[in-house]
Amino acid sequence: QQQQQQQQQQQQQQQQQLPPPPPPRPAGKMNLHKLQLKYTAKQPISMVTAYDYPSARLVDGAGMDVVLVGDSLGMVVLGLDDTTSVTMDQMVHHCQAAARGTKRALVIGDLPFGSYLTADDAARNGVRLVKEGRVDAVKLEGGRQMVPQVKALVAAGVAVMGHIGFTPQSFAALGGYRVQGRTAEQALELLAAARELQDAGCFGIVLEMVPAPVAQLVTNELSIPTIGIGAGVGTSGQVQVFHDLLGLYDGKVPKFARQFGQLDGPASDALSEYSLAVQARRFPAQCHSFGIAAEELSSFRQIVADRATD
Ligand code: KIV
Repeated sequence: QQQQQQQQQQQQQQQQQLPPPPPPRPAGKMNLHKLQLKYTAKQPISMVTAYDYPSARLVDGAGMDVVLVGDSLGMVVLGLDDTTSVTMDQMVHHCQAAARGTKRALVIGDLPFGSYLTADDAARNGVRLVKEGRVDAVKLEGGRQMVPQVKALVAAGVAVMGHIGFTPQSFAALGGYRVQGRTAEQALELLAAARELQDAGCFGIVLEMVPAPVAQLVTNELSIPTIGIGAGVGTSGQVQVFHDLLGLYDGKVPKFARQFGQLDGPASDALSEYSLAVQARRFPAQCHSFGIAAEELSSFRQIVADRATD
């Protein structure tokens, strides 16, 4: 009886340690209205990058709220040193593939560096990303100076997400990969930018590499969701890069990323095994091969033999 009681106690303790179940997912495709409802209900918003059909299918299937076709594709998919040379054509191409792999999540596509220099550029390229890339919304980087671009996109009927704090497209102008908003003056500027982007019509704002307490305060001051990356736990949601989460990038893992999986090793083991199997003629096996009816084969052999003797 004592043993039974101990077991019951252990079970109760285990149950208490389990995290609470996630809130039920809203039915059907995510849209801006459902995203805002989630934000108002204080339910954290999950966002991950994806750049093609298989990555989007995995992200969407895992129940993510938002798929971001980030211009980080320049680094993690195209092997470039930074994002500045990513083009509109490349973004359209990758957005199309990711959109085809997404059934339920909201799809946001990044406007690449130099594609929104003026309000007209922003509207034209934003419309292109929706029309050809099949995204639900676009994201652009920059603070208060982006207000005309945001307004032009909204006027053209394109939903826009802002991106402030560290903005990778202007890493050189920012003096490298540095946390932003570490002085009271810089933090005030971030808050002012967030407010102005919200007033201009952004439906959400990414806060990248911002001190956690600053991100929390900015979040509290807004009535639209903030999505953090390297901005602590106090934002309305989180975004991470697919290849960082899964351990698939050979570059530096940023401090703010956590590898929830390390798939590089298993993937390269499987590929080496294939290579060895080919070299040892252990692949393909009979079950991977196609046959032919005996009479067809014999007539084929006969014809080849007859031709050889002609
Ligand atoms: O391009 C990207 O992946 C991004 C995220 C880091 C927010 O903009």
